Amino acid sequence: MTLPELLELLASMGSDPSEETVGLSELDHGLQCAFELARAHPDDQELQVAGLVHDIGHRFGPDDRHGALGAEKVRGLLGDRVAGLVEAHVPAKRYLVTADASYAARLSAQSTRTLGVQGGTLTPDELASFESSPFAVDAVELRRADDAAKVPGRVVPSLRHWVPMLEDVARSRPGAEFPGAVGAPDAST
Ligand SMILES: [Fe+2]
Repeated sequence: MTLPELLELLASMGSDPSEETVGLSELDHGLQCAFELARAHPDDQELQVAGLVHDIGHRFGPDDRHGALGAEKVRGLLGDRVAGLVEAHVPAKRYLVTADASYAARLSAQSTRTLGVQGGTLTPDELASFESSPFAVDAVELRRADDAAKVPGRVVPSLRHWVPMLEDVARSRPGAEFPGAVGAPDAST
């Protein structure tokens, strides 16, 4: 996926109603999530960008696969860490439900419904595997921002605000062959 294609997809999500919050689009949700991460982690552009794109996988398949599908879509453009964070935000929810007794009680109604489809609490093996992931700590941060990013009518920076950061992340990802050509066709898509 090229940067123009990603921007077009994100913009189109402005007309996708959020599955769970009236008056909130899927784009609003991503923008709020990125904004939350920018406040908490102002120096981590990849984490902020991961927050912006974390739910694009909903456009490409069922809920239980949306993390992996979203990761697949952005890996070529935004690199392995952003992709890893996008993929890990789903097990991060399962991790929090498993590790933090009060977390499950605070989940939104829709998040509680999808938890079952996503696998519920982690088994001991899954827990160990998640905790050993290089993305675990930051994926939990993403997940907490995800939970906070469901406020109808909240004013946050628009998609245009994030374009320079998306360009920076795309140019600086390991393996970027043509640092200036972030919009060029990507062989991985
Ligand atoms: Fe989300």
